[in-house]
Amino acid sequence: MPDLTNNAPLLDIRDLAVQFNTDSGVVHAVNGLNLSIHRGKSLGLVGETGAGKTTTALALLRLIQSPPGEIKSGSMFFDGTDVLKMTETELRSMRGGRIAMIFQDPMTSLNPIMTIEEQIVEMISLHSGLRGNEVTTRAREMMTLVGIRPERGRDYPHQFSGGMRQRVGIAIALACEPALLIADEPTTALDVTIQAQVVDLIRNLQKVVNTSLLLITHDLGIVAEICDDVAIMYAGRLVEYAPLRPLYKRPMHPYTQGLFNAVPSLDSEPGGRLTVIQGLMPDPTDLPQGCGFSPRCPAAQDICRSVACGMKEYEPGHFVDCYFPNHAWEV
Ligand SMILES: Nc1ncnc2c1ncn2[C@@H]1O[C@H](COP(=O)(O)OP(=O)(O)O)[C@@H](O)[C@H]1O
Ligand SMILES: [Mg+2]
Repeated sequence: MPDLTNNAPLLDIRDLAVQFNTDSGVVHAVNGLNLSIHRGKSLGLVGETGAGKTTTALALLRLIQSPPGEIKSGSMFFDGTDVLKMTETELRSMRGGRIAMIFQDPMTSLNPIMTIEEQIVEMISLHSGLRGNEVTTRAREMMTLVGIRPERGRDYPHQFSGGMRQRVGIAIALACEPALLIADEPTTALDVTIQAQVVDLIRNLQKVVNTSLLLITHDLGIVAEICDDVAIMYAGRLVEYAPLRPLYKRPMHPYTQGLFNAVPSLDSEPGGRLTVIQGLMPDPTDLPQGCGFSPRCPAAQDICRSVACGMKEYEPGHFVDCYFPNHAWEV
């Protein structure tokens, strides 16, 4: 049962398993994922391509297409309500209303034949109690808030640059003051300078609108700028979870450490090589027994290849799914 006290998380995902039944086998995209986000907090969900990040977000919005997709097991409580038991009407009002999502390429979510203002207006009319002029006023306020001149509202998506389109996506997402904003690789398609502007925008707006944030990314730098907590995902489940500082100061899972070692830092030797994680993510149709990372793990022992450890709290609030977390940072 969900915890319904004041301290209850806004979002509480337990043991989520999602699979895709394909011709080449059953793809185990998400395998027993646990995740929670508290009100007003931001969580960074980090992992390489194929880890199951987008599938998790789509499962929460009940947007996994079936077939081939299937939510096999688990529970997802959003603000105390069981998302898996919601009716189609409840789901429609949740999507875009209480939970909004921005995508890597906003072009895929924007309507090419509607002006920007029409699209923001449509979202506000659908999901807020505002009517008539109030809706237009609110739409223009949102455009100003994200740095788009209101007169540009008459333009169509193709008339905007990638960075400006992402601002439009953010305006639409936040127009109804969602309780949770999901941003799936929101800056991956953008130039570095524009990335920084969009990161700044999300960070500021998240505080102004007081929305919770699930930021999906493979970029540890962006997480460090925005997030309160960090979850590292590998082969469909979390391997490490902690508040930002302990995770960056003392990453413990060998996979997390590998991620950090693969990022160049000013301390690295000039011209020196980065330490990369050897091997590839396991085939999701044929996951290894035990810990999913064991085939690539330099510290793996026999037990890792037979039974996964499960999350253990190695310091307050810092959870690691590993029998032999590396404490190299202690010495
Ligand atoms: N519609 C689909 N059909 C089959 N496999 C899928 C589908 N969507 C995602 N997958 C697979 O599920 C796994 C997780 O994908 P995804 O959630 O997109 O990862 P991420 O967002 O972390 O890159 C991958 O192996 C991917 O190929
Ligand atoms: Mg993805």
